[in-house]
Amino acid sequence: MNLPPNLTIRHNHLWIGQHDTVELARRYGTPLYVTDEDRIIGNYEQYHKALNAVYPRTRILYAAKANGNLAVLRLLCSLGAGADVFSSGELQLALSAGMAPGSLLFNGNSKSLADLSLAVKAGVPISVDSLDELRQLNIVAEKLQKTARIAFRVNPALEVPTHPKIATGLATSKFGIAHPLIPAAYREALSCRNVDPIGIHCHIGSQILSVEPFSQACEVMLRIAGEITDLGVCLEFIDLGGGLGIPYHRGEGQTAPTPADYAQAVVPVFKKGIAAAGINPELWVEPGRSLVADSTILLTGVNSIKPAHRNFVNVDAGFNLLIRPAMYDAWHEVIAANKAGSPATVMYTIAGPICETGDILARDRMFPELIAGDIIAVLDTGAYGFAMSSQYNSRPRCPEVLLSRSQAALMRRSENIEDVTTTMHVPPWQGPS
Ligand code: LLP
Repeated sequence: MNLPPNLTIRHNHLWIGQHDTVELARRYGTPLYVTDEDRIIGNYEQYHKALNAVYPRTRILYAAKANGNLAVLRLLCSLGAGADVFSSGELQLALSAGMAPGSLLFNGNSKSLADLSLAVKAGVPISVDSLDELRQLNIVAEKLQKTARIAFRVNPALEVPTHPKIATGLATSKFGIAHPLIPAAYREALSCRNVDPIGIHCHIGSQILSVEPFSQACEVMLRIAGEITDLGVCLEFIDLGGGLGIPYHRGEGQTAPTPADYAQAVVPVFKKGIAAAGINPELWVEPGRSLVADSTILLTGVNSIKPAHRNFVNVDAGFNLLIRPAMYDAWHEVIAANKAGSPATVMYTIAGPICETGDILARDRMFPELIAGDIIAVLDTGAYGFAMSSQYNSRPRCPEVLLSRSQAALMRRSENIEDVTTTMHVPPWQGPS
């Protein structure tokens, strides 16, 4: 088995960094998300080095939606990252993690007046997704007697090789403004008294395993950058979004482009474009998955085994905690954490505890013979794992543990049933509860 670099097998147990996963499961219980800080640091450093080597005026805005735990944001902030935030909640988290307002970009196709006002008050640049939003923002900023610094989100109309639900730059997508309409949008922005257009933004999709779509998008963006510079826009940044994929099928030899591959494909196009336009903007990128996905495993305990139509292993984590398999037919490597070195001789399907047929974490995978009490590790769950969890079936969410070298600590406690019911109210006509 081809494991991510921070996972090893020792004495038949799966280890993450310097920690025995079986010991972590015993100490904190299952289900449990376990994140290895060192892996995030390594991933960030790789991006930082690769991009800065070819274009020092680069800024990494971590896509906070991938994993919004405050400890993860604080770590990335300490390394120098800003953040792509997609809601007022993410914006507030990024600020409380210590990120500077100017190092954030507030994205989103559907922002409320309250969202816009929060961003303007905090001095966070905003990626504007429509002309309607631009006009509302101008009014909001005028009332606050501020100037909103903005970019427009460009829809570059690019087909990208990924799951259709996570391709975001298609002509049919809900995101951004069609690229032929972008110069007119900047013209209007230039005429708004309380708006200052300082950037341009796109994001073409997620889990993309080749670099060509990124250089294509960069080409479109730089062409537009030239056009809007001619209109009088002074571009401080060009933000190419995130989207670099990771090799979830690592075991079958799948690979993903590295940040260095990305930099080599994109930066020459970027440099050529800015030279042609005679501008010197920063290059912003917004990686999410490629910074955090492989830092984390989800440990889930086996409740029972049921040979039936398939050989089901019923575990204690389902799509309430990891929705990617159900939502995108996503594939995650699974390993018996307490039998990691034993030969895989039996085919099993890993079923979660949620009352839905689609609650299958992994189908027809080979394992050593499993029994109740065993622990299954689901790999590469650091991005869009806990972040997309829910309390469906009134299941409190599980804890998250952060590891740093030999230390381990909770970065989120387990929820309990009070956490599920605390926001509920009994209406007065139902009498005392
Ligand atoms: N920037 C913007 C504006 C985005 O919308 C996203 C992701 C990113 C950056 C980061 O993309 P990344 O580097 O992580 O690919 N839940 C899905 C992925 C949804 C991505 C949404 N936008 C999944 O589990 O695959």
